[in-house]
Amino acid sequence: MSELNKIALKIISNGKGILAADESNGTMTKRLESVNVNSTPENRLLFREMLFSSESMKECIGGVILYDETINQTTSFGKSIPDLIYSSGALPGIKVDTGAKDLANSSEEKITEGLDGLRERLKKYYELGARFTKWRGVYTISDIYPSKLAIQSNAHALARYSALVQENKMVPIVEPEVLMDGDHSADSCLKKTSEVIKKCFDELILHKVDISGIILKPNMILAGKQSKNKISNEEISQKTLECLKSSVPSEVPGIAFLSGGQSEIDATENLNLINKNNNTRFIMTYSYGRALQQSALRTWSKNIKNIEAPQNIFNHRAKMCSLAAKGKWSKELENK
Ligand code: G3H
Repeated sequence: MSELNKIALKIISNGKGILAADESNGTMTKRLESVNVNSTPENRLLFREMLFSSESMKECIGGVILYDETINQTTSFGKSIPDLIYSSGALPGIKVDTGAKDLANSSEEKITEGLDGLRERLKKYYELGARFTKWRGVYTISDIYPSKLAIQSNAHALARYSALVQENKMVPIVEPEVLMDGDHSADSCLKKTSEVIKKCFDELILHKVDISGIILKPNMILAGKQSKNKISNEEISQKTLECLKSSVPSEVPGIAFLSGGQSEIDATENLNLINKNNNTRFIMTYSYGRALQQSALRTWSKNIKNIEAPQNIFNHRAKMCSLAAKGKWSKELENK
């Protein structure tokens, strides 16, 4: 077993998953302002240190993805954020892309940037304690998209990123997110997501990335948000498994889904069904942002000095996701 494979397994084994707390300052500002909290560095830190010092971190969270501002911050009780995460038994990770920009010659599509100077930034993040990283490619579905150009160029960037991350002894999370926006069918999502993921692996292999030392972070297979033909949660799990079975090499240790705008309960129930029906050798877990934080954020915003109430909410959410990662979640446990 390679060192990278060991790190990947430490993050995602035994019902543990990833807390994606790597919202850029722009995104975090939107989240905080939606609950009437000022987006200052102090408030962003306060919310995140509340999450990272919650009890459920020990049992349910194997890794936390951070943003550049957060990995450099020190808590109100004097610990660095990476140390706080280590003290719960989880590993700190870092988002290293610099965002999705318009793709030249297909300007309705996006290409993720951040390769310039990446090798040097990675060294700095390793010294700060990071042991894994994240890079998100983003794709839209329509009659003509994602184009071959977007599929090819994002896969190329994800592969170059992954090779540099592994060179620096960290595990790359490879995140090709096919968005829920649009009125496409679930079958269209299945077809396009499979194409996107296959191309990512073609490029990862071409760039000699150790496939056993990555974590794949894909979307689940869903009908578009505006589609009139929604499918059941059971069908979502079946189609998601069909997609991953046919497009992911068996050496990959695990898959940690993004929530992508699903409700907290849907993201949990779908993951639970995926695990109940799992006929692959992959670990299937969560790398949720909104689906782990939304309710806790709403409660915290009512009194940002009270950490107990939002921590209770976060602990419940993390526990439910962890049960889902073992196929042991139920509506009864959810509502207990
Ligand atoms: O890149 C996306 C985030 O890491 C996951 O966020 O679960 O809210 O989609 P989400």
